[in-house]
Amino acid sequence: MAIGIGLLGLGTVGTGTAEILLTPQGRHPLLGEVILKKAGVRSLDKPRKVDLPEGCLTTDLKAIVADPEVDIVVELLGGIEPCRTLILEAIANGKHIVTANKAVIAKHGEEIFKAANQAGVYVLLEAAVGGGIPIIKPLKQSLGVNRISRVIGIINGTTNYILTQMAQHGADFADVLKEAQDLGYAEADPTADVDGGDAADKIAILASLAFGGRIRREDVYCEGIRTVSAADISFAAKLGFVIKLLAIAERPDIEEEALQLRVHPTLVPEEHPLASVNGVFNAILVEGSPLGEVMLYGPGAGAGATASAVVSDIVHVVGLLHSDTTVRNQSEKTLNPLLGCSHEHYSPILSIDTLKTRFYARFLSQDLPGVIGDLGTRFGNHQVSLESVVQIGLQDDCAEIVVVTHDVYEANFREALNEIKGLEAIKDVPSILRVL
Ligand code: HSE
Repeated sequence: MAIGIGLLGLGTVGTGTAEILLTPQGRHPLLGEVILKKAGVRSLDKPRKVDLPEGCLTTDLKAIVADPEVDIVVELLGGIEPCRTLILEAIANGKHIVTANKAVIAKHGEEIFKAANQAGVYVLLEAAVGGGIPIIKPLKQSLGVNRISRVIGIINGTTNYILTQMAQHGADFADVLKEAQDLGYAEADPTADVDGGDAADKIAILASLAFGGRIRREDVYCEGIRTVSAADISFAAKLGFVIKLLAIAERPDIEEEALQLRVHPTLVPEEHPLASVNGVFNAILVEGSPLGEVMLYGPGAGAGATASAVVSDIVHVVGLLHSDTTVRNQSEKTLNPLLGCSHEHYSPILSIDTLKTRFYARFLSQDLPGVIGDLGTRFGNHQVSLESVVQIGLQDDCAEIVVVTHDVYEANFREALNEIKGLEAIKDVPSILRVL
């Protein structure tokens, strides 16, 4: 069986994908049946790192998604448009889709999967989360019989690199970001990474798979890492924590359907397995019953790693086309339930106010008798119990006080904080972080 591939995009991941497709020796035998028919790019003149078959390169992306010789469209352009339109056109033309595009799936998944189900085609997205780490298929299949209670991920390599550099070299956020951009790790426009949007797209996808309901992307509570300072990283280390940008999806009450979905910088205890995930690496911890905990760890981005996930999806579709002639002929619109997307309802999402968590807060105050006592009283007035209070030192004539709470409701903590900010002795509250 010969299966034609139409590649949309020949950037870092597209080039890595073409390299695997063009060198099938020693890899999965089904790759021998895959033929790279077209690669769609913006410019034909740009030098390419891969030798493509003659006539393969084109700037006509619309022709690729309509090409009768293309069975699988591999979308590696990134961003919302023209990806959404091209994917929908390809589906309407009966093509299966493989994509690494978390943004388009997180924001337009409903429309895309509805169209795919009607057309009887697959939309596979292993490369959209965690780069080379297999996490989409494990959540759908290998772990799917468990009742999942929580998924916690370090799923943005750029921010993990920045936080790791800040921790290891005591550097400030802006300096490390600039260095990461110079080294090509961070995008020229780093907004989606550093403000948490990329991780939010990814956790929306993981939550949908883990908990079996659609997620509205705007329901993911999201804070990025711009406010994390070298001072907080250093204080956190003294208290036995590292700071990581975590993406968390959890079902606080396993008997209820409602989920908490959030992305924010988090103090992680040094002994926690996620604490030692450094640099551009990603890791995803899945907790379920009766399984317990599983952590998947590996390269979260990069040409080879992400292309590995892309091509694994291509091979998967080829395998399905072998075993399921009804899908190939589209005489019946039945998709393999292990790989299709069947859920249609939206999961209810809890407000961040109902989150129960520990907090870390840093205060700058006048160095006067009674300030620490006053802080304790104000927190206590709102049922916020403190685990530790440490006066670290002086900064610009202000005492620097770090507080870690017990598990408390976010709403109570915020109310207490508002009251504390009104105290004359409190000059500033430079940071509020949650603790895992
Ligand atoms: N920009 C992403 C990251 C990689 O830094 O993890 C692609 O998902």
